[in-house]
Amino acid sequence: MSTDKVDGKRINNPETSFAKMEQEFGLFRQRFPAYERTSRIDELRASEYGRLDRAEHVYLDYTGGGLYSDHQIREHSAFLKAGIFGNPHSSNPSSLASTEADESARKYVLEYFNASPEEYTVIFTLNASGALKIVGESYPFGPGSRYLLTFDNHNAVNGIREFARAKCANITYVPNAAPELRIDETRIEAELAKPNPHARNLFVFPAQSNFSGVQHSLEWISKAHAFGWDVVLDAAAFVPTNTLDLSTYHPDFVPLSFYKMIGYPTGVGCLIARKGALKFLRPPWFAGGTIEMASVQGDRYLLSEGAKAFEEGTIDYLNLPAVEIGLRYIRQIGIQTIHERVMSLTAWLLDRLAALHHKNGAPVMEIYGPKDTLSRGGTIAFNLLDPNGLVFNFHYVEETAAANNISLRTGCFCNPGAGEIAFGLTKADMVTCFDEEERASFERCIIAAKGKTAGAIRISLGIASNFSDVHRFELFAETFLDKSAKNDSGTTFHD
Ligand SMILES: Cc1ncc(COP(=O)(O)O)c(C=O)c1O
Repeated sequence: MSTDKVDGKRINNPETSFAKMEQEFGLFRQRFPAYERTSRIDELRASEYGRLDRAEHVYLDYTGGGLYSDHQIREHSAFLKAGIFGNPHSSNPSSLASTEADESARKYVLEYFNASPEEYTVIFTLNASGALKIVGESYPFGPGSRYLLTFDNHNAVNGIREFARAKCANITYVPNAAPELRIDETRIEAELAKPNPHARNLFVFPAQSNFSGVQHSLEWISKAHAFGWDVVLDAAAFVPTNTLDLSTYHPDFVPLSFYKMIGYPTGVGCLIARKGALKFLRPPWFAGGTIEMASVQGDRYLLSEGAKAFEEGTIDYLNLPAVEIGLRYIRQIGIQTIHERVMSLTAWLLDRLAALHHKNGAPVMEIYGPKDTLSRGGTIAFNLLDPNGLVFNFHYVEETAAANNISLRTGCFCNPGAGEIAFGLTKADMVTCFDEEERASFERCIIAAKGKTAGAIRISLGIASNFSDVHRFELFAETFLDKSAKNDSGTTFHD
């Protein structure tokens, strides 16, 4: 245990804190006996993620980015040192070596998600946003088409509405509801029952919210299909700690970023696409790599077939083998083992954080989303409150966490829809913000004009999380007990 400090004050005495943690850990293990089955990860924490404990770092931003193991770096480095790899678009030996490694990675991605190669293909992209952009810009929206999405979505999904709007499609958002931040199933089903039968209709939702950790029902996929919708399942925040089995669920498109699952490499994501649905996408342009041939004088081009038509330019051919190395590593540990561990730690943390109260009985935390682990993942969004219910400025909380070597994330996490519901912001609040003449940041506008919270704090658990991480976070949260937001946080505002 480190010499933990907040604002220069120790949050706990290092001599007593280790004993306290051991005692708490004993109680934790009694309550979550399944955690014992994940002890392999404790060995890996020491051997593969030793840098965390050497730096006494509490990493709580796995939904932002996963952490890589030393193993992945060793394996990738050995792979690079052993071969001669050139640009894949040729048939010289170095080019063929790259093609072979990249096709192996492509095949393994399908295998990892239990996706039949007859049914699915993999398009490599820069990240999940790049994968979503492919769908948005290539989808055959037209007048009367419907684009249906949940409030709870990443901005890259919100952004697709601009492609839909440009092609005169109708855009419908289904809201989620506070405090659980779940979506009303009946509203989804009512909307799904009304596709435009004369056009193509697209429905997008996240398997897991990157804001609240809520997991939405994967059963919506087959329900939507039954009404004739095409379905994008945004799996970016779900797959790092959950099983996605594409032989059980059959979404048309699945965008994801590999760095969220395996930490390394960054800059590579993919769109897993159902071949049957891919043939409806029309890329709006062509580039090197996406065509069989193009002519300047003939003013025509012939698109490649399948995934190749969407991989613009040179793929990240040296990093794709690292994707396969990382996925094999996860598979060897077992995604269910990671899941079990993360959910035990999340359950403990949710209980402990919800139980924190000031002396006057007021809660310390306002948690946005479910307070138990039913249909949710290991991502918790919240704000810290003082005894009078004033919200601590999240920048201040991030700074004090940083001073304690705790990595967490603050803001609205590129998910404005979930944030607007969580913070009680209305359409009128938001519209007037955009009408103001000066370009104001979302946060400045909301605080200044509306007197409402404009962001939250998010902690998220992942592959290398252990009890010490969550225990240290609880100790950090306890330092806010009976503390006034007025004195310490700089800015205060009512929720
Ligand atoms: C659910 C979800 N979708 C999409 C994205 C976008 O991922 P990227 O920034 O890697 O493109 C994220 C990133 O946080 C996410 O959590």
